[in-house]
Amino acid sequence: MEVVHSIADLRSRIREYRRKNDGSVGFVPTMGYLHEGHASLLRKARSQSGLVVLSIFVNPLQFGPGEDFERYPRNTERDLEVAEAAGADLVFMPSVSEMYPAPTRTTVSVTGLTSNLCGASRPGHFDGVATVVSKLFHIVQPDQAFFGLKDAQQVAVIEQMVQDLNLAVEIVPCPTLREKDGLAMSSRNVYLTEEERKQALVLSQSLELAKEFVRGRSSFTAGELESLVRSHIATAPLAVIDYAEVLAYPALETFESSTHTDSVIIALAVKFGKTRLIDNAIIQLR
Ligand code: PAJ
Repeated sequence: MEVVHSIADLRSRIREYRRKNDGSVGFVPTMGYLHEGHASLLRKARSQSGLVVLSIFVNPLQFGPGEDFERYPRNTERDLEVAEAAGADLVFMPSVSEMYPAPTRTTVSVTGLTSNLCGASRPGHFDGVATVVSKLFHIVQPDQAFFGLKDAQQVAVIEQMVQDLNLAVEIVPCPTLREKDGLAMSSRNVYLTEEERKQALVLSQSLELAKEFVRGRSSFTAGELESLVRSHIATAPLAVIDYAEVLAYPALETFESSTHTDSVIIALAVKFGKTRLIDNAIIQLR
């Protein structure tokens, strides 16, 4: 495994690989502080691609004022161990000035899909994500790129961008990895106090309750499912709901009755103290 910091070095390594090999280039973009969720994307890439490229870059563009850009957890040494064990070949770790030598005057903005959920509660967030992912795609020029469905709206935004801009990359969505007790793995879980960590289980629990509810019914309304989830989250005194929404999937649009959609997503963002956690469940109805 090799680590590079400049765009020029990364490009020359990938060019060299392509000159000597027929294999595909697989790409896993991350912000580091790697956990098993990230490792699962790398392993998937390892199984499908000839060259596995990982990027670690905490992208300032996707953090709003007052969010956690400055204190976002970082641990390069451990990240490189996880990356190597999971099968990365090339790690790209650019500085902010390498990625943004001057303030960017070009922004990639995906409309529609970004008006609700995290798009609504984090204004500008998905412009920052789409812009950096578009830059990274141009730098790496991967054949496949691997994204986690823990960030389901992010996957939808990237897929839309790829389609609209005719980018020659296949997006591979990957399942959410969880701790043994159900908590979705996240770099931000380290922010949680012991008590918050305990109470944070209401997210995955409420998604399980929702799945059970759906299994037992031939039809239901989005409102019914939403109240079920909200009332379970409310049993945790430290939980402050940012959103808890039930939408048609993959359109991410509201619906009245489940008879109008084949698949639904229950999407949650809940704050515990300063820490905002997200989770979701996608349920295929027929
Ligand atoms: P980051 O939060 O580091 O996540 C990198 C990738 O790992 C994303 O595709 C995310 O969905 C996936 N991931 C995170 N937790 C996961 C889990 N528990 N199971 C499976 N996959 C998981 O998402 C970003 O970084 C950034 O927005 C980025 C795309 C890198 C652009 O800056």
